[in-house]
Amino acid sequence: MLHSCYGVNAEGHLTLGGLDTVKLAKEYGTPLYLLDTDHVRAMCRMYKKSFAAAFGSASAPVYAGKALCCTRIYRIMAEEGLYADCVSPGEILTARHAGFPMSDVFFHGNNKTDEDLRTALSLGVGHIVVDSMDELDALEDLAAAMNVTAKILLRITPGIDPHTHRKIITGNVDSKFGSAIVTGAAEAILCAAMRKPHLVLDGLHCHIGSQIFEIEPFADAADIMTGFIARMRQAHGYAGTILNLGGGFGVRYTEDDPTIDYPSYVCALGKELDQRCERYRIERPTILMEPGRSLVAAAGVTLYTVGSVKEIPGFRNYVSIDGGMPDNPRYTLYQSRYTVLHAEHADAAPDFPCTVAGRCCESGDLIAENVSVVRPRRGDILAVLVTGAYNYSMASHYNRIPKPPVIEISEGKATVAVRRERWEDLYALDEVPPDTASEEVSP
Ligand code: LLP
Repeated sequence: MLHSCYGVNAEGHLTLGGLDTVKLAKEYGTPLYLLDTDHVRAMCRMYKKSFAAAFGSASAPVYAGKALCCTRIYRIMAEEGLYADCVSPGEILTARHAGFPMSDVFFHGNNKTDEDLRTALSLGVGHIVVDSMDELDALEDLAAAMNVTAKILLRITPGIDPHTHRKIITGNVDSKFGSAIVTGAAEAILCAAMRKPHLVLDGLHCHIGSQIFEIEPFADAADIMTGFIARMRQAHGYAGTILNLGGGFGVRYTEDDPTIDYPSYVCALGKELDQRCERYRIERPTILMEPGRSLVAAAGVTLYTVGSVKEIPGFRNYVSIDGGMPDNPRYTLYQSRYTVLHAEHADAAPDFPCTVAGRCCESGDLIAENVSVVRPRRGDILAVLVTGAYNYSMASHYNRIPKPPVIEISEGKATVAVRRERWEDLYALDEVPPDTASEEVSP
């Protein structure tokens, strides 16, 4: 099977974390997100260990909560001793609700509002990753007005093509994120940051993209960033000690994807980094990296009930399921490829080529095309593997469809991490009394 958390039991049913997914579908209904948190914890421990070996004991993984954001996952990340990358007050407040230490949070985003920044300052968020000169000025003013000092990193755009999907590249110069080195914007913001009395410049950050399988783009980023640090040390006495190289490690979604041996990958990056530090004659910075997808993706499986099975001779077969783009928009957005299985015949040879279609009123609402499954019938359970990342966190209510629950699987037991939305949740915000309609969001 694609990842070690998947299996097949004596009845031929797909298992996750040892539990029968078909039974879980009957118990909790579908669509259903499952998450094997023992697998997530194993990934956390693997990253902590590999980071310490490759980059030294001060380095640490920072969980990119955008991959999967709910209270339970932040609690697990806190227990495992990871830092967190949050990208909105909503993510920060969810982390806080989980008891996640605010000092271990890095607040990201290319357009934080004054209200967002004020919230982060008042909650004592550990570091704010400043994206632009406008934001730097605004943050200084807000920190001065609140009479606090804020620790910051600067988001730098190294200018790299990481060979991934166009929409998830972020480290190239033509990007809404960060300040580019080649344009001089990075040097300008660094000099400005060093002069802000209420801001402490602790280091630099870059993020080159997501779902990256090659080591070179990361090595290139490390090269450009360490070279930049060396120049800034010389020219301006820049003294920041942190270098955050972002997230982006790839994940195997189908048998066609390469496998990544993460510890060796991290170890190779550690060597590349050490070479660069030597070449540019700087001390190795405290290295942080922000895995999101690779911590949670494989641990997730989504279960659906099959509705209609339509064979259109000369064209294709459609298998329609009771979910779709509202719970997984990734095929619609990126043509992402998935492994789809008949959960009740998980080890039987697939014999039915088909397109798996969602239930929305939209032709593009597909989960997979050109896949083959054991021929399903109405009422059967289909499983889509590797859905732990960017599925629940990207879910919408399109067509007024309630979001599925997230069921945690750990040590052979299933518990509800997020409950299924009810019909009344869908209209809970409609036509509220005028006195509550304009309530401020406050922490
Ligand atoms: N750090 C920063 C600053 C990021 O922007 C991201 C992802 C990460 C870390 C985590 O990257 P990861 O390890 O998960 O690759 N919705 C897209 C992915 C967008 C990624 C956005 N940023 C998808 O479903 O493929």
